[in-house]
Amino acid sequence: MGAEKRKTETVSREELEIQKQFSQKVGSVISSKYAEKPKACVITYGCQQNVADSERIKGMLEVMGYDFTEERLEAKLIIFNTCAVREHAEDRVFGNVGSLKKYKRENPDAVIALCGCMMQQKHIADKIKQSYPFVDLVFGTHVVHCLPELLYKALTGRKRVFEIPDMDGVIAEGIPVKRDNDAKAWLPIMYGCNNFCSYCIVPYVRGRERSRTKDDVVNEFKQLVAEGYKEITLLGQNVNSYGKDLIPRVTFAELLKELSELDGDFRIRFMTSHPKDCTKELIETMANCDKVAQHLHLPFQSGSNRVLKAMNRHYTREQYLELINYAKELMGDELSITSDIIVGFPGETYEEFKETLSLVEEIKATSLFTFIYSPRKGTPAAEMDDPVSAEEKSKWFKELTDLQEKISGEQMALHKGKTYKCYVYGKGKLSDNYVAARNDGNLIIEFEGDESLIGTFQNIKVIEPLTFVMRGEIVKEK
Ligand code: 5AD
Ligand code: SF4
Repeated sequence: MGAEKRKTETVSREELEIQKQFSQKVGSVISSKYAEKPKACVITYGCQQNVADSERIKGMLEVMGYDFTEERLEAKLIIFNTCAVREHAEDRVFGNVGSLKKYKRENPDAVIALCGCMMQQKHIADKIKQSYPFVDLVFGTHVVHCLPELLYKALTGRKRVFEIPDMDGVIAEGIPVKRDNDAKAWLPIMYGCNNFCSYCIVPYVRGRERSRTKDDVVNEFKQLVAEGYKEITLLGQNVNSYGKDLIPRVTFAELLKELSELDGDFRIRFMTSHPKDCTKELIETMANCDKVAQHLHLPFQSGSNRVLKAMNRHYTREQYLELINYAKELMGDELSITSDIIVGFPGETYEEFKETLSLVEEIKATSLFTFIYSPRKGTPAAEMDDPVSAEEKSKWFKELTDLQEKISGEQMALHKGKTYKCYVYGKGKLSDNYVAARNDGNLIIEFEGDESLIGTFQNIKVIEPLTFVMRGEIVKEK
């Protein structure tokens, strides 16, 4: 479909060709420098989008001639792909980078690099420049595809390399990918965010929303299916606004439907959905397409309409519930709901927090991702009065997690004795001879089984629901 167009700028073929040439140059530099293939260690923080970016970083490094290690003190190239969503994640990065000072002194030829959302904030890049002189290379979220050129400069020049352009963002296609998992794959369908929720740094560091064309998504999806991936998760900060920038317009529901009609035995997941853009059409598509998992990750953040407004979320508690109830009506017990919640948004009162608790009671989510509000420099919420103490917020937080633990337990118990078609995605944690599988919703069931089952669908009966995972057993015939 050659007529597909995008309003967003795409990285040109010529530019990608230049990067390929730099990739070869890096290859020559490292092969003359080291007798064996040097090892790279890529450390990823934060969301699945970052995981997907790291898979592209590793793909490019592999082409350049690097091997990989999980052990940073064995590596000649250490890259931290950072997250800026909460302060805690940033503190961990500073701590981990700081601990490499001695390693760099003893191994001056090693390259230490930082990239990702944190680096896109000026005050952070400045701090790295001033206080972490042993960091050789810093690059922002919009120039990941330029890694070959930037690494070449870092390896051959005398100066430290800082490349953090402030821009709306581009799309680079055709970057090699080295995937972390042989069984499940991440597939970014769009980048950036336009929502500017008042607490969130993401729109400032990831740029404006831009969709990959439907052809590019479908082609990568087909390739994944051909390679044997059976669980593919479509990624975006707000997948429901996929395609708004494409000409002709493609909706997320249309994309999902088209992917689910492709040949092959696979399951599609997606995240994250924003309630303000979540349509009934999308919920109907989930319900009607067998290959789309019946799992809806729909963050509501707060149960109070006043707080939702202050968060700039553009929906009410009632509208959120309407969507959830519609999804439950169409998908029944099979549906798994998960959500994100922020506790202690500036100015939130205990009464308002209790509205979050009551919404949690009503939704009956499988699990929740709960966070204490963390001020992010440059966002409107960071300027708001925040009178509630950290101690008080921690108490509320505990109240919320205790409640959800009880609900998760009740939800899990409902599945006892039921058999589900599950996708076995990796090793289990309950015991050494267990593998882990996921059902069509989002339930994780572990069972005794050989690692050769990883990457296959199996029917698993739930034996014992635990808090976050179930123990099950394989059923040969359903
Ligand atoms: N403080 C706490 N949590 C946050 N999130 C985003 N920004 C912040 C912040 N400043 C949470 C939201 C979002 C999830 C990815 O991280 O719940 O959905
Ligand atoms: Fe942040 Fe809101 Fe965008 Fe999610 S939708 S990335 S919370 S601004």
